Amino acid sequence: MAKTVALIAAALCVLALAGFAQCEEQFSVMGRVYCDTCRLQFVTRLSEFISGAKVRLECRDRQDAKNVTYTIEGLTDAEGYYSVPVAGDHEGEICEVTAVSSPDAECNEPANERARVSLAKNSGIPSQNRYANFVGFLKKEPLPECVDVLKELTLVE
Ligand SMILES: *[C@@H]1O[C@H](CO)[C@@H](O)[C@H](O)[C@H]1NC(C)=O
Repeated sequence: MAKTVALIAAALCVLALAGFAQCEEQFSVMGRVYCDTCRLQFVTRLSEFISGAKVRLECRDRQDAKNVTYTIEGLTDAEGYYSVPVAGDHEGEICEVTAVSSPDAECNEPANERARVSLAKNSGIPSQNRYANFVGFLKKEPLPECVDVLKELTLVE
């Protein structure tokens, strides 16, 4: 079975060389960008999603963090979702998505989240789709209702 799949993949690569299919593109990294309306650096029920936000996926060598092996940027759709294609296998590398810029002037301070994704074929994940954790931007002023959210989370009494 695995052999058949490998053969089909190889056949597709041959077709790709002939211009029929894309061979290099192996993964899609998907995720969502939020506006952290409570400035808590996690998603709450008051979080909003940002359309037109820019994210960057960057892979670096595990041994040498200065060695950037892959970079691609993407934009979120109306619901804040993005999907970026990744060519090649990235075993032995650390690949992370970060939030780069937001078109929302009230919510454009990157929350500095790094959403790590595995982009190795041998990771045991059968799908070509790899889902990254949320990355976001902090709203300038937290919403007044954030007090309630904090109470719900029992972080404050
Ligand atoms: C950078 O990392 C890649 C992937 O791990 C490796 O193949 C390559 O040799 C590295 N390049 C340098 C200059 O260290």
